[in-house]
Amino acid sequence: MPGFTPPRFDDALLAQAVARLRAGELVVFPTETVYGLGADAANPAAAAKIFAAKGRPSDHPLIVHLAATEALARWAKDIPPVAWRLAEAFWPGPLTLILKKREWVPMAVTGGQETLGLRIPAHPLALRLLRAFSAVSKQGGVAAPSANRFGRISPTTAAHVRAELGEQTALILDGGACPVGIESTILDLSRFATRGAEILRPGGLDALALAEVLGAMPKQRDKKSAPDAPRVSGSLASHYAPVTPLRLLEATALPDFLARQAAAGCRCGALALRPQANARICRVLPADPAQYARMLYASLRELDGAALDLIVVEMPPVGFTWNAIHDRLRRAAT
Ligand code: TXA
Ligand code: MG
Repeated sequence: MPGFTPPRFDDALLAQAVARLRAGELVVFPTETVYGLGADAANPAAAAKIFAAKGRPSDHPLIVHLAATEALARWAKDIPPVAWRLAEAFWPGPLTLILKKREWVPMAVTGGQETLGLRIPAHPLALRLLRAFSAVSKQGGVAAPSANRFGRISPTTAAHVRAELGEQTALILDGGACPVGIESTILDLSRFATRGAEILRPGGLDALALAEVLGAMPKQRDKKSAPDAPRVSGSLASHYAPVTPLRLLEATALPDFLARQAAAGCRCGALALRPQANARICRVLPADPAQYARMLYASLRELDGAALDLIVVEMPPVGFTWNAIHDRLRRAAT
């Protein structure tokens, strides 16, 4: 990640985190996308603690984080060759691959499904934790959803995690602000022979990058076209949401809308690409999708904490590099 220097991280804390994971306890760790709430993925009782801490329904599957590409074959079976090529090209990085799970992988982790999400995160502290854990445990995978309460905005700093889960839930490893800022792209390869590669959730890696390795643009799965498809909780219509109501508006409509709301006494905050005079608070985000994504969740949290009646978001530009951002904003607005 250009210009990204993670804070120093001491070995004693790392050893403590590994010991917690081995004992079936929870550890929060930074990834390049968002912070994860981790547990030993081979231990069903440990995975159950994640669901309890998040308030997440137990049929929603978790992503398993690995230390090295070779571990893929330990967790997944019938791996199509394209999975290895994608892993080679994009791991460590913001790409989760859905593959058929091996028999031994606990159903508690996959939400009762025969498929499994796997990725290697590109954050130096996550990699240190995963490598240290895999050196002392049989399977070495760490199951981790985003470290937020179910349905809420994913945390991109350790302070967000503390605000969301408190200090008691898990040991929290602070790795600074997450450089990507939105969750990984989820690509389903579990039915590759019949359906090809399908994006279940757009995210930190865009479809064009995937197309370079796949040789074709991946399809975007929608619920209606595939009712039997694996469940993705991030694909629920309402997700990634602040508590304050949120509305998406075209740029041209924003100034008038805010002026009318202000005149009516409505406390409106704005998230926009340019300053808005009639907003109580306005967070201006950069017009570059990677920089916008990095700041999006922290900005939404800040506005959500400002006792506003409404958060108004300026519709960002369209184009495939903005897809994941549009997806999250739509869900936050539902
Ligand atoms: O960037 C990320 O992916 C972050 C970091 C921590 O790695 N993790 C994350 O996890 O966003 P979570 O649990 O908040 O979202 C993971 C999504 C869920 O929507 C889940 O349903 C989906 O991945 N998922 C996991 N395993 C799956 C499977 N076998 N089939 C379909 N979807 C799956
Ligand atoms: Mg999540």
